[in-house]
Amino acid sequence: MIAQLSAFTKVGPQLPGSNPGAQYERQGVRYYVKGSAVGSEAIGIARAQNEVLTAKLLKAAGAGVVDMDLAQGLPPELGSRWGVASRFIHGKPLLPATGRIVEAVWLDFAAHAWLANRDVIGHDFLNTVIVDGVAINTDQGGGLLFTGQGRLKYPELAFGDMPADVMEWFTLRDTRINPAAWFYDSMSDVELRASARKVLAVTDATIIQLVHAYGPGGSDLRSRLANSLIARREATGRLIEASSR
Ligand SMILES: Nc1ncnc2c1ncn2[C@@H]1O[C@H](COP(=O)(O)OP(=O)(O)OP(=O)(O)O)[C@@H](O)[C@H]1O
Ligand SMILES: [Mg+2]
Repeated sequence: MIAQLSAFTKVGPQLPGSNPGAQYERQGVRYYVKGSAVGSEAIGIARAQNEVLTAKLLKAAGAGVVDMDLAQGLPPELGSRWGVASRFIHGKPLLPATGRIVEAVWLDFAAHAWLANRDVIGHDFLNTVIVDGVAINTDQGGGLLFTGQGRLKYPELAFGDMPADVMEWFTLRDTRINPAAWFYDSMSDVELRASARKVLAVTDATIIQLVHAYGPGGSDLRSRLANSLIARREATGRLIEASSR
């Protein structure tokens, strides 16, 4: 589904974040709508598709994530005509982090690593919130091919390819690299394996279907992206095999 913003009414301002956004309502339902202030219109569309696809893949892995769709017809102050609209949720912040909150975040660690969703918690710890004890990620702008600020994450690769190694399995837990790494760094092998099982359960057919339905670029790019994600799922399996030996 593509949300046509002409059918929405603005009801609230941007929330803390680096991308232009605003709260909207349609038929009594609230959404957070986010545009892109960087680059061309083509980049705005690709970023939005990249973010929606990340959200759909997270959902396929059973991870906590907002319902998100592409949005069209954004006003000039949102920076681009295309963006994303996510159904608004009222969650509790991650901080102050109790043991229960940290454990809720652990369940989806591997899914976010698989998708290179580096800002899952975010430098301000506001990208994930807790709803009924479940960690729900609200911001997938830093997933897959783009950084949260809209730069290409893998400029050395053809656009659409991702490294077959899941470096985020390590970097998300590295306090020198991720300011939120302390959320993850006491996960045991048992907990790492439990989170990885959610990734391993996503089938090739689901990955291919979602990438072709929602991904950026043409069908060649989408095929390469699906292949990269299948390779990264396999790499996730090898990482937990290595840890159980
Ligand atoms: N669907 C939603 N429901 C509730 N709150 C939301 C939703 N979407 C976004 N938010 C809130 O709005 C803030 C800004 O949105 P988001 O993080 O997606 O924007 P951003 O500008 O890309 O952020 P960043 O600077 O982390 O890249 C989020 O941190 C979150 O607190
Ligand atoms: Mg954010």
